[in-house]
Amino acid sequence: MDSSNFAPRVDDIRPFQVMELLRRAREMEAAGRDIIHMEVGEPDFPTPAPIVEAATRFISKGHVHYTPALGLTSLREAIARYYSDRYHIDVNPNRIVITAGASGALLLATAATVRPSGEWLVPDPGYPSNRHLIRAFEGIPIGLPVNAETDFQPTPELIEASWHGQTQGLIVASPSNPTGTVLEPENLKAIHEFTTRKGGNLIVDEIYQGLTYGSRDFTALSCCSHAIIVNSFSKYFGMTGWRLGWLVVPEGTTNAFEKLAQHFFIAPSTVAQYAALAAFTPATQAILEERKQIFSQRRSTLLNGLTSLGIDVPCTPIGAFYAYADVRPLGLDSRAMANHLLEDAGVATTPGLDFGNQDPGRYLRLAYTTDEGRIAEAIERIRGRLF
Ligand SMILES: Cc1ncc(COP(=O)(O)O)c(C=O)c1O
Repeated sequence: MDSSNFAPRVDDIRPFQVMELLRRAREMEAAGRDIIHMEVGEPDFPTPAPIVEAATRFISKGHVHYTPALGLTSLREAIARYYSDRYHIDVNPNRIVITAGASGALLLATAATVRPSGEWLVPDPGYPSNRHLIRAFEGIPIGLPVNAETDFQPTPELIEASWHGQTQGLIVASPSNPTGTVLEPENLKAIHEFTTRKGGNLIVDEIYQGLTYGSRDFTALSCCSHAIIVNSFSKYFGMTGWRLGWLVVPEGTTNAFEKLAQHFFIAPSTVAQYAALAAFTPATQAILEERKQIFSQRRSTLLNGLTSLGIDVPCTPIGAFYAYADVRPLGLDSRAMANHLLEDAGVATTPGLDFGNQDPGRYLRLAYTTDEGRIAEAIERIRGRLF
């Protein structure tokens, strides 16, 4: 077999551009250069100790078998309790499907809903995998150009204007990657009403839920009963490598997701699920809230630092751990700027190209997933190396 055997979908899928940059950063590190990593989209903290201890206790018994495809009942119930305690929302645990991260959740959600040639609106810039998943299931992703004027989030008006006969659905993320901006609850409510009226699908990715700074923590569950909600243990809970997330699916639709989950995965990771049972305890929550404060301080350090360099972040990020900076006034496109910052300042960042086709040369994503001292150092290294 050679690449001529591959299905056309493979050609249409673009790798993450940042991987090339990362490869170069590693090469430089191997040659002794100190690189400050601000391209990485995962918390730098270790998994909270109570979660690791729960996993160790479970694994030491040696009985690591499959769980039900929908996940452990106890974990689904724990997530429902979390929604109730933290967001004052009642969710039937039967609506919760445990998955292999938000990635597994998005895979199941798109497998369940994308029809061949069905068109899906995806904000551009936005999380790149969404359009590739839609393509993988033979749908057609349509970039919904969003810009700083609307906080890089789609408005109900934009969606109504972009929706036509072939449109099947919409995927949004709040807080968003790469911009950290959020969808205002009233806009999300209006979008949900519109997609429901159209008989369309709405997928809301809440993977950065819990990581919002100075703004009310929110869940789409409070206003979107017909939407599929995506979530994960990766970001707020600091469990990227455990590969665990979940879906909340509309009442009465769980069986469809269960069938797909059985055949795609059999079950999510058993060890990760037993570990995640400790994610909602007061001890873990105290650790996570402390980390959130640290993220908040880092965010200020980064935003103030960028301002001092004359680099504009047009929309103040409300959540996640990213700033989406406008580098156009500096005279280089973002890919060239990312290369320049890496080579000359030893600071790794992600060019906008990874997040879509809407003005990608203009923006650079900087992640504050490294400690405050390193962020301050990155700013100083960049100072004087700008044109
Ligand atoms: C918006 C968004 N959705 C989904 C994912 C996938 O995350 P995971 O599969 O680790 O839960 C990411 C990862 O960065 C993301 O930024």
